[in-house]
Amino acid sequence: MKNIIEWDKKKKSQEKITMVTCYDFTSAKILATSPIDAVLVGDSIAMTMMGESTTLGCENQWIKWATLAVRRGAPEKFIVSDLAFLTTTKNKSESMSVVEQLFKAGAQAVKVEGVASNKEFIQTCISSGVPVMAHTGLMPQHTHLVGGYKVQGREQEQSEFIKEEALIAQELGCFSIVLECVPTELGKQVTGALSIPTIGIGAGPGTDGQILVWQDLLGLTPDFKAKFVKAFSGGAHLFKEALDQYCDEVQKGIFPSKDESYSS
Ligand code: KIV
Repeated sequence: MKNIIEWDKKKKSQEKITMVTCYDFTSAKILATSPIDAVLVGDSIAMTMMGESTTLGCENQWIKWATLAVRRGAPEKFIVSDLAFLTTTKNKSESMSVVEQLFKAGAQAVKVEGVASNKEFIQTCISSGVPVMAHTGLMPQHTHLVGGYKVQGREQEQSEFIKEEALIAQELGCFSIVLECVPTELGKQVTGALSIPTIGIGAGPGTDGQILVWQDLLGLTPDFKAKFVKAFSGGAHLFKEALDQYCDEVQKGIFPSKDESYSS
């Protein structure tokens, strides 16, 4: 998808939307050759690229540099960039200056965790021409508030809250909403109630699209296996095999061979 209009078209034609996170140029070049519809430069960069245990320590600078790299690697893809923890609580000029930098780096939209609590910020973005993807259900930036990474919306009150968040997102003019870690039935209900597309991660098959974290999708994180993750490749194993073989060939004098060496 190249622009925001196409999100709406996909929802109307009931064509599933595919998204993946990405944080670097080389990976972006690979995904540029795939049919993936859109890319999220997520604040999960803090965990996947910087080794932090939550997303809370993410810096907007990291997202900005990653957005720049992903835009260069995948010039035709629709790019959504995340906002680091507490960005939306800063004063208007500070938070909008972050948005400005992300757009200058190549973002076409920003993602905001929490809808009702960020109404004013979302309105400012949209009235300034910045498309907003909302995010509700499990909000990793609220991990301390909800006691960790847990399924949200199993209880009536939580489930009503999530439905309400989704409706507010639509009313505010968000072009889509991420539903993270919610029961399948709730994912389906919210999707049916909205005219904007829902993108699920751990929200079952009834959402309008799916998103996975790059490292999880490629099997690069074999030690981490959330229920909703499916590894579509044995990435870590493949890389390890290549490294083992490289070391072996160097030790045995097989690499570099004549093919990889210069003649005089
Ligand atoms: O930052 C991220 O990777 C995300 C996805 C899990 C939706 O927010």
